Amino acid sequence: MMKRVAILGATGLVGQRFIQLLYKHPWFEIAVLQSSGKSAGKTYGESVKWVIDTDIPVEISQLPVEPLNAESIVKEGIDIVFSALPSEIATDVEKELARRGLIVISNASPMRMEPDIPLINPEVNADHIEVLEIQRKKRGWSGAIVKVPNCTTSIFTLSLKPLYDDFGVKRVVVSSMQAISGAGLTGLPSMFIMDNLIPYIEGEEEKVEEESTKIFGSLGSDGILHNNNLLVSASCHRVMVLEGHTIAVFAELEKKNAAIEDIVRAMEEFKGNKIKGLNLPTQPEKPIIVRRELDRPQPRLDRYEGRGMSVVVGRIRHDKVFNGVKYIVLGSNTIRGAAGNGVLIAELLVRKGLV
Ligand SMILES: NC(=O)c1ccc[n+]([C@@H]2O[C@H](COP(=O)([O-])OP(=O)(O)OC[C@H]3O[C@@H](n4cnc5c(N)ncnc54)[C@H](OP(=O)(O)O)[C@@H]3O)[C@@H](O)[C@H]2O)c1
Repeated sequence: MMKRVAILGATGLVGQRFIQLLYKHPWFEIAVLQSSGKSAGKTYGESVKWVIDTDIPVEISQLPVEPLNAESIVKEGIDIVFSALPSEIATDVEKELARRGLIVISNASPMRMEPDIPLINPEVNADHIEVLEIQRKKRGWSGAIVKVPNCTTSIFTLSLKPLYDDFGVKRVVVSSMQAISGAGLTGLPSMFIMDNLIPYIEGEEEKVEEESTKIFGSLGSDGILHNNNLLVSASCHRVMVLEGHTIAVFAELEKKNAAIEDIVRAMEEFKGNKIKGLNLPTQPEKPIIVRRELDRPQPRLDRYEGRGMSVVVGRIRHDKVFNGVKYIVLGSNTIRGAAGNGVLIAELLVRKGLV
């Protein structure tokens, strides 16, 4: 049976991606759209500043946009809520919905570090979903909250997974070149970014460093335990690219002198271990695509590989500082790093019988 879904923050950039990915989805039907009060009384088509390169589906453009309101979601008999709300306002409504029995899949950063809140990048740590049992017991919720990792973290950890599994990873340095769309629809005025690079994104480096060790952590009796054997250092930068975060990764491996061909093979053959065989509609056939040309990946050419769900890795080579490996990875921040990851998590929950 189709699951009825609501999108919070539906008029924003991630909200628009949710609409693109959920329209005509084989398992989900978009039933409720909510955003700030400024769209009250208007249809979606009248209130959204659409920036995605496929048209707004006509049926969706005619749906009303409600102001944020948990009550109406409960009344509508929604099964899954996708939240693309700004961090400052997400927590109260997400908790209220989980308390009242809804499954909330959220892109907002608050609560990502709480041990009983799963932070899921499905191919990397789908098994962390088991922490929901602890969450429900501890908080007395009949619903649940699952968080989507930060966009850079999602792209980076997916690329690191086969190295982690096959060679062991001790220390990693990550330097990101992040797209403008990562700051939201109106987050970054052109005056600041045109002909420019901004070497600071508030809170981003801490998110990449802390979220990664949670994603590569393990399930303990009170929740997810961070992996303290993995050290991550990040430097994050905004560049004048519309979509697609590019990340330079330098890793020290436990297995010394690993051959580059073996590393390339591990990445190319990676099947997304944790969701292998589940046949989820949004699951990319190849989570990691390796390019051998010296000038790839590039955002304009590679960001929508695997319908935006694959990451593209290139320039895999020896790193002499760590006596390890270095490479470049690129992924769509609004799809792999946000809405697409959220939809994949929802599909995982359906397959596991949790919705
Ligand atoms: N952009 C990315 O690549 C990305 C990646 C990962 C995670 N995220 C996270 O995803 C969330 C959404 O990001 P975004 O880029 O889509 O932001 P955005 O483009 O600025 O969209 C924000 C959305 O929230 C709504 N909103 C604003 N204030 C509200 C309020 N008081 N009550 C209810 N709704 C309100 C807006 O509605 P109106 O149109 O009515 O103002 C809009 O729909 C954020 O938490 C962000 O950190 C974003």
